[in-house]
Amino acid sequence: MSAAAAAAVALGVAACTITDAAQSSDSGDDRTPASGPADELTAVDPDTIPGLEEDGAEDEGGGVSVTLSYPVIPNADPLAERLAQIAERDAADFAGAVPGAEGVSIDWQISAAGDGVIAVRLTQEETGSEGDRTGYSTYWYDTSDGHTAASTELLAGDAELADLHALVRAALEDTDGVDTSAIQPIARVYDSMGFNPDGDLVVEFDEGQVAPLDAGRIRAVVPGADADPLLSEFGERAQEAAVGVTPEFAVDEPPTVPKDDPYPPAPGTSPGAAGDDVDCTAAGSKCVALTFDDGPGERTGEVLDALAEHDAKATFFVTGGPVGQHPGLVRRAFADGHEIGNHTVGHPDLAGLGAGGIRAELDPVTDVVRRETGYTMDLMRPPYGSTNGTVEEVTRDLGTAQILWSVDTRDWKDRDADKVADRAVSGAAPGAIILMHDIHDSTVDAVPDIVERLDEKGYTMVTTSQLLGDTEPGNAYLDAVPEADGAGDGEG
Ligand code: NI
Repeated sequence: MSAAAAAAVALGVAACTITDAAQSSDSGDDRTPASGPADELTAVDPDTIPGLEEDGAEDEGGGVSVTLSYPVIPNADPLAERLAQIAERDAADFAGAVPGAEGVSIDWQISAAGDGVIAVRLTQEETGSEGDRTGYSTYWYDTSDGHTAASTELLAGDAELADLHALVRAALEDTDGVDTSAIQPIARVYDSMGFNPDGDLVVEFDEGQVAPLDAGRIRAVVPGADADPLLSEFGERAQEAAVGVTPEFAVDEPPTVPKDDPYPPAPGTSPGAAGDDVDCTAAGSKCVALTFDDGPGERTGEVLDALAEHDAKATFFVTGGPVGQHPGLVRRAFADGHEIGNHTVGHPDLAGLGAGGIRAELDPVTDVVRRETGYTMDLMRPPYGSTNGTVEEVTRDLGTAQILWSVDTRDWKDRDADKVADRAVSGAAPGAIILMHDIHDSTVDAVPDIVERLDEKGYTMVTTSQLLGDTEPGNAYLDAVPEADGAGDGEG
């Protein structure tokens, strides 16, 4: 704990002297209705929270200036610790992911305080050569067990997130500049939700996330009548907390943090898991992994459509520039339950680089994919399948396995959809990993045929992780057939 946080905890003793008043007010008697704009999350004056302090950090590392601040509330230490982690990670992802990044400043406001719930809304101001933008994320803290919930945990589950998503898309359909296909039902996109003073659900997006930067901040207000049935029990408490103001809000005592985390993943954090009933290790199973490299491309959406039609899953090994050009497609691939893997920033032969150069090719893609989807990739594919001991060491350090392939459609060479489809289908065997590139028109044209024919042959098209099960960072995999000495050593 930092000195400032320690000081804040010490001050908490003073705050505890008004505990009785806070308890009775917190139970509702002294609460007054919240006020504020109908299209904004409620805001709480921090002066109504005795003992509240601010902590933070400043850093100039790597040429990007970083300023972080977050609130420290007596008896709510896990919240401050979690906010510090989140702010540091988000700032680092910006610095690593965005070309021309210059500075990032994360500030906070309290959105709710009452009924054993505290909400903190973080505002992330980013400056860089590609323009300035502000992002938002809101976290909901349970004072009794010390859990800091993502905004999607206000909802009962993935199905409720999908229902909310449909309402939000409909609400924003006619809003100038909004690209509704960029809005996907994932936790990273729905990461700033709260309530207006009437208890309606407010969903806000980052600038530039679902509309051009100059469209400003986009938000949707979902009326309580529609949103209330979608809330989790915690979400109902959060709503109660948001619509009232507690004078002299205080947390009576530190949380009782359960030993084992009893919380399932937040809705929208593992979209593939919903359909994750495939067992590729079962006798007689016929699993095959379709993989698409170098994208996303202009027509990757058509690939996603074809896969969806047959409920097929695939893996997209994405490259730095294309992710920056088509972030909405990466979000959609993730939301559809496909796997995202790292295929470097600039597609070099990694075996020709030193450890520092290899890291510099992999880290920015990890950062940008996490920034867009919230997902931290654990698979990578070396361009040209070119790998060596240094690549193995670095990828082991980074926690990513190397994924090669067992079937090469050579679609980069023969731009002929029929040939590509024939090679993919004839090469398919249980456990195969099939290499394709979704940046070529002929490949995009071949995908509906491939998926249909593999389906007819009884194959289940799965993600690479579904095919391989647990993978070992650094190790190289050609297919799902385990090697005698426990996976390859990167001869590629
Ligand atoms: Ni490639």
